[in-house]
Amino acid sequence: MAPPRVVVAGAGGRGVGCMSTIAASPNHGVIVAYADPHGPSREKAAAVSPGARMFEGWREMLAEVECDVLLVTAPQYVHCEIVLAGLEAGLDIYCEKPMAHSLEDCNRIVSGVKASDCLFYVGLQLRTVPVLKHMKKLVDSGVVGKPSMMFARELRAPFLPKVDDWIGDENKSGGALVEKNCHHFDLFNWYCGSRAVRVNAIGGKALTAEDGGNVGELLDHAFVLVDYADGTRACLEMCFFCPAFAHELEIVGDNGRRLVTDLEQLKLWEADQETRSFQTWNYELRQAHGDPSGWLDFLDCRALAPDNAASLARAEAGRDSVQIALAAQESIKIGATVTLQ
Ligand SMILES: NC(=O)c1ccc[n+]([C@@H]2O[C@H](COP(=O)([O-])OP(=O)(O)OC[C@H]3O[C@@H](n4cnc5c(N)ncnc54)[C@H](O)[C@@H]3O)[C@@H](O)[C@H]2O)c1
Repeated sequence: MAPPRVVVAGAGGRGVGCMSTIAASPNHGVIVAYADPHGPSREKAAAVSPGARMFEGWREMLAEVECDVLLVTAPQYVHCEIVLAGLEAGLDIYCEKPMAHSLEDCNRIVSGVKASDCLFYVGLQLRTVPVLKHMKKLVDSGVVGKPSMMFARELRAPFLPKVDDWIGDENKSGGALVEKNCHHFDLFNWYCGSRAVRVNAIGGKALTAEDGGNVGELLDHAFVLVDYADGTRACLEMCFFCPAFAHELEIVGDNGRRLVTDLEQLKLWEADQETRSFQTWNYELRQAHGDPSGWLDFLDCRALAPDNAASLARAEAGRDSVQIALAAQESIKIGATVTLQ
C-alpha cells in the first residue's frame, strides 16, 4: 500500500510530535498539509514539514488538498466537528484521545463512524505499548482466569502548558480525568471486556499551579472506583503533582493469580503462597513512550481489508473511556456514586 497523504488539523505539541514521527519515515506517510489558527504552531510545523501546505483553517485545507488520511491533533473540544467533516470527505481518520470532551460529541462521532465506510482510529496508544499488549494477550489466554480486580496507578508532573491554556478550561478539555486518564479507563475496559455500570470517586485539587498542581480548576489527584456489569472492579489512583513518575497496572484474577507491571517489568504471580513464585518479562521503558507505535498500529489497521465493525468498536471504546472519566468527575463533584446509562 502506498504511503498515505496525510493532512493534520492542529499543529501544537502533539500535532508536531506526530508530524515528526511520520516525517522520519517516508514509508509511513507524507504530510501534505496542516492547519492551525495559531501562528507560532504553524511555524513549528513548517520546520518539521517544509514541503507541506500551510492553512489557518482546517475547512479550507480539506476543501483544497487531495489526501487520504486526516490526523486530528487539535484540542478535543473541536475533534467532533473536524472528524465528522473528515468522514464526510471520505478520509480515513486518526483522532487523538480523548475522542471528545463531552459525551454528546463522543456519541455524534460514534454515529458518524457507523454511517461511514472510512477507517476510524482513536489514539488510545496505551493499547499499543508492548508490555501492555503482552498483558492483554496473557489475560485473553486465561492465565488469571477472569479478571476480578484491576488497579492502575499514575503519578506524574502537572500538565504541560497548552496553546491558549485550553486544558485548564473544563468546557474545552473535559477535565483532568478525561484528558489523561481516559487511557487508563480504556485499559480497564479492554482487559475485562465488560461494561462499566457504576463509578465512585473522590479527589480534588491540593496544590495551586504555582505550588506544583494542575492549571485552573483541574483536579490534581483522585481515587476512582469502577464497577463492571460482570462483577469486575477497578481502581485508578492518580496524582499530578509527583514528578517522580510511576505508571503501574495490576490485575488479580478469580484463580488467585496476579499480573503486575510498572512498564519495565511484567510479572505473573502464581497463587501458591508457599513458593511465592512468579514469571517475569523485561521491557525497556523507552519502548513505552515516544509513540511511533500508535501511528504504526493505525497503518496496520489501514492495510487490512475495510472493516466498519472495527472502526465502530474503536469509536465506541473512545466514547466509553470518556464516559467513565466524566462520571468520575461528576462523582467527585456531587459526592455520590454515578450510575452509567
Ligand atoms: N495520546 C497522547 O499521549 C497525547 C499527548 C498529548 C496530547 N494529546 C492530545 O492531542 C490534542 C492536542 O494536544 P496538544 O498537547 O498538542 O495541545 P497544544 O495546545 O500544544 O496544541 C493544540 C493545537 O491545536 C490548535 N487548534 C486549536 N483549535 C484548532 C482548530 N479548530 N483547528 C486546528 N487547530 C486548532 C492550537 O492552535 C494548537 O496549536 C489533545 O486532544 C490532547 O489531549 C494526546
